[in-house]
Amino acid sequence: LDSHVSRRLGTTTSAEKVDVDKTHQAVCVVISDVRNIRKSYFAIQEEGQEQAERSVLISCPPKFSEERFLKHLSKHGDISNYFFYYSYGIYAVVEFSNRDSIASMKESSRIPIVQHEAAVPFKSRLFSLKSTGALNQSDSPNTVKCQQHAPLPINQLTQRLSKEESMDRQLQSLMEAYQLTEDNVRLRFLVCSLLRDIAAAYFPECTIRPFGSSVNGFGKLGCDLDMFLDLDAISGGKPKKSDSGLSLEYQVKRGASERSVTQSILSVIGECVDQFGPGCVGVQKILNARCPLVRFSHQPSGFQCDLTANNRVAMKSSELLYLYGQLDERVRCLVFTVRCWARVHGITSSIPGAWISNFSLTVMVLFFLQRRSPAILPTLDQLKDLAAASDKCVIEGNDCTIVSDLSKIKLQNNTESLEKLLQEFFEFYGTFAFNKMSLNIRKGKEQNKPESAALYIQNPFETSLNVSKNVNATQLERFVALCRESAWMLQQGEVLKRGSAQSSGSVPPWGLAALLLPSVAEGAGVKGRRKRKREPASERIKSLLDSLKSNGGGKKNQRS
Ligand code: GTP
Ligand code: MG
Repeated sequence: LDSHVSRRLGTTTSAEKVDVDKTHQAVCVVISDVRNIRKSYFAIQEEGQEQAERSVLISCPPKFSEERFLKHLSKHGDISNYFFYYSYGIYAVVEFSNRDSIASMKESSRIPIVQHEAAVPFKSRLFSLKSTGALNQSDSPNTVKCQQHAPLPINQLTQRLSKEESMDRQLQSLMEAYQLTEDNVRLRFLVCSLLRDIAAAYFPECTIRPFGSSVNGFGKLGCDLDMFLDLDAISGGKPKKSDSGLSLEYQVKRGASERSVTQSILSVIGECVDQFGPGCVGVQKILNARCPLVRFSHQPSGFQCDLTANNRVAMKSSELLYLYGQLDERVRCLVFTVRCWARVHGITSSIPGAWISNFSLTVMVLFFLQRRSPAILPTLDQLKDLAAASDKCVIEGNDCTIVSDLSKIKLQNNTESLEKLLQEFFEFYGTFAFNKMSLNIRKGKEQNKPESAALYIQNPFETSLNVSKNVNATQLERFVALCRESAWMLQQGEVLKRGSAQSSGSVPPWGLAALLLPSVAEGAGVKGRRKRKREPASERIKSLLDSLKSNGGGKKNQRS
């Protein structure tokens, strides 16, 4: 048990108490205060935001001396952290110990004089490092060490995975290669903070918070930056009682609805970002979407940004996903793997459409883990039942309460390997009755579909909505067919054999690497995987899978 807990938490040991769940006769592990080991979602948000406010972003010349750079900046105060990264040029993120340093830096920086054009004199925290020619010859500039914030190309990833010794290691290795680094997350908070400086011209008390995969633990390097303009600190609050029996309130403009107010705020801020925001290009205001947003590209960070407002439920969904990802190490490994597998096979896409979204796929993995026996993850209702009074959270009439104290969550002792879970995931969804049933992570059970969408995944917090409403029958069929194909490959066992290294040092793709190759069971390329050709093959694979199961044959059964 100790080793199980340590694996889950990635620490030496944390089981304080082991008790037997009398009802289920299953062994449960009470995790000692998980928050000491993994930070709470709230703590990460607060810390990230506070660090970002003490930070600046600097565009640097191709060659310069790191030592001189640091010496120059230290004139403004102590530097508590810094790093360089490459994104169409070298950039530095510099975090000072004190916010006063930024005021001092701003004081000594100037607005450039541009030729043939004119500059908008907006003093942001995005600077350019210029050489004043004071470098002396003996002081030759060295090249600084730059981080790469781009994901590993797929061919390099498959080579890396093939060198691993086991399939479990392959899944872990995929996650290690793809997950956001601590510094990349810092940069995400910094971009939010830079944007906040623009929005604060109108709403000084506002905050801009990252949500979605930037902070939910499932972000891949290069993923978009979802931002939420939080104006709650401004509105609300009860009128203060005064002895005079009088009170003052602001005169405000009124809009027809909450939505129209959000639209007009985003429209104005979007305009400012477009006209005044240094490094912000390609601004699009998508105000008629279900959730109005401003989309743009932030060039210095390379992030594609989506700014929304009044989107509290999505913030809560990010917290929920973060929490599930923290409960068991296997959750994130499996989600990263399934997302990558879906992406390389064209099941998901960066363009919105009738495809399954990454968010839906993540919920599908969570649901699958709730359905294991013993269950690996608790249901959302269980997380709600464990909540303290202070966790109570109702957003627009939806009860979004979840426990914040992770130490209250009891996990059952499921020790299935990642290899086994991946195989079972493919079998589970390769044979799921999507035509009749919906997925519900609140109950941890499939339920009759309330309407005839191809794929019905109940929205965890807005329970009358389907998060995969956009998915059409063709896309669902492609997903199911690919699950069957992958399950079939794993059952056959051939792909599970690791070959030896070739003279070049590379190992032929096996295990997870083989599942990520464009051409699998049918021996056809991606183009050959059209619906017409695929359907019979998929059905054939399903029946072969079924017969393997019923005959008790196949690699899987030999192994278990
Ligand atoms: P990637 O950006 O693809 O890496 O993943 P993501 O989780 O950030 O997804 P996305 O940028 O599409 O959406 C950001 C967040 O909005 C998600 O994490 C969810 O919290 C929320 N979200 C996205 N799509 C839906 C949806 O259909 N329904 C609900 N309720 N929330 C959604
Ligand atoms: Mg996102």
